[in-house]
Amino acid sequence: MLVIDKEISNIFEKTIKSLYGDRNIKNLDITVATKEEFGDFQTNFAMMNSKIIGDNPRKIAQNIIDNIVDNDIVEKLEIAGPGFINIFLKVQYLNNLIKNVLTKKYDFSFLDTHGDVVIDFSSPNIAKRMHIGHLRSTVIGDSIARIYRYLNYHVIADNHIGDWGTQFGKLIIGYRTWLNKSTYDENPIEELERVYVEFAKASENSDILEENARIELKKLQDGDEKNYNLWKEFVSESLKEYNKLYKRLGVHFDTYYGESFYHDMMKDIIKELLDKKIAVDDDGAKVVFFDEKDNLYPCIVEKKDGAFLYSTSDVATIKFRKENYNLNKIIYLTDERQQDHFKQVFKITDMLGWTIEKHHIWFGIMTFDDAILSTRGGNVIRLEMLLDESKRRAYNTVNEKNPLLSEEEKNNIAEIVGIGAIKYADLSQNRQSPVKFEWNKILSFEGNTAPYLQYSYARIKSILRRAKNDNKEITDDKEVNIYEKQERILANHILIFPMAVLKAAETFKPNIIADYLFELAKKFNTFYNSCPILNQEDDVLYSRGQLIKAIGKTLKEGLYLLGIETLEKM
Ligand code: ARG
Repeated sequence: MLVIDKEISNIFEKTIKSLYGDRNIKNLDITVATKEEFGDFQTNFAMMNSKIIGDNPRKIAQNIIDNIVDNDIVEKLEIAGPGFINIFLKVQYLNNLIKNVLTKKYDFSFLDTHGDVVIDFSSPNIAKRMHIGHLRSTVIGDSIARIYRYLNYHVIADNHIGDWGTQFGKLIIGYRTWLNKSTYDENPIEELERVYVEFAKASENSDILEENARIELKKLQDGDEKNYNLWKEFVSESLKEYNKLYKRLGVHFDTYYGESFYHDMMKDIIKELLDKKIAVDDDGAKVVFFDEKDNLYPCIVEKKDGAFLYSTSDVATIKFRKENYNLNKIIYLTDERQQDHFKQVFKITDMLGWTIEKHHIWFGIMTFDDAILSTRGGNVIRLEMLLDESKRRAYNTVNEKNPLLSEEEKNNIAEIVGIGAIKYADLSQNRQSPVKFEWNKILSFEGNTAPYLQYSYARIKSILRRAKNDNKEITDDKEVNIYEKQERILANHILIFPMAVLKAAETFKPNIIADYLFELAKKFNTFYNSCPILNQEDDVLYSRGQLIKAIGKTLKEGLYLLGIETLEKM
């Protein structure tokens, strides 16, 4: 089924074409009416295009209203204010659409979905456990991947793990010097973290350690077998650990091409940059200097000692993706501190003449009790601990509300609610603002939270079950008859779901979907409090039943796009 604003704009487009021909008119925006008395939808087309058309907006609006082409959608049009057109839809049209929501898919064929969308997210650095700082990239990246897939793009979810770099020389020394084998066997990353810290402490009073670490790193880079095997082990143990968390979070990757994957390509990158005079020799180092107007620091791509840098690796990564995929776009998710890095990398690829659509989607830093969470800071909250704590708290609530459920059910609900709450707390915020966690808020069953949405969904499911038990099952073929104002408001809100998804994709902001869902759940709860469903005349019961079924379906789909599961019972 066509997305509703497209369907309406088709009618306007035809009318406008017949009146004004093929002029270069500005976008025809159809938005939801801001007040009930303004109808269902509105457009400011006449105001936006009065200069281009060369008439005053009210006249244009009136002209469109008087000449609107024949259709089965529009009940009436009204002119408002300086030239708005208020659009009132035929109720039969809305009735049909709601029925379609239950049985059909939205048609997004107007999008240019050619090629591959590479989404580069999560990307932790090996040999460290994931902490709260990794949550945003993982959760927002996964949601964007889900949204793009929903819109029929071919997505490649890539985990660009940090598996190459100076830390490995240090880790190898640490491993050989301080490792406690039995702790390592039990929890490898924890032990690697510890020896890494030991190295840092010891190297404070010993330059030789740093030097030795460089030697081991060099050996690793030159393919020394022992070092290589150790490195491989660090990587695979780390991935094992990460995959446990990804599984719990419901996050999926198609590829795990880490920095090491690109290592052999970097020499050629430097050569190309030098050949094209994009990089120059600067006292032994290879450096890209930018135009003054770009306002960027010079970017070192090869150090004096021949070592490559993070930026070199990202230029190589882009080259690989360009050559191996049919790129539609690349989307990167990292925190705000990498903005300059990506500006430099993108500029360099522009200078190389590679035309690729790329977006660095950055987000604010997540805090908990005011501490900035970074591995270096003292106050690190590990991701696993965070999830466990959320689950524990959710369990207590479930236990209180529903003591009679089986232990297994309680645990299952607690896991889904606990993880949903954390993800939603992150995704419902504007990603560029910092996020501060507060347990009581994020786990509350009221307000803009996952538990509230999950609860609303379960409430709908329970109403549908009760109808079925009364022998009034709400099957998809039942007629919808929108009658009350409340019903119409709900119907319109259901129908704009794909508009919210499109907007979220365009702006890379899952919080647009979260806001949409919160509004939908609120509208449902208000509706249900004033318009009963069960014990009504059959036609009312079935019609309202269909409406809430469509809400349920939309809530589930929307939560899925945020990576959040729903429950049939809570
Ligand atoms: N490993 C990096 C970090 O932890 C993030 C990598 C992001 N992706 C990229 N292509 N640079 O900060």
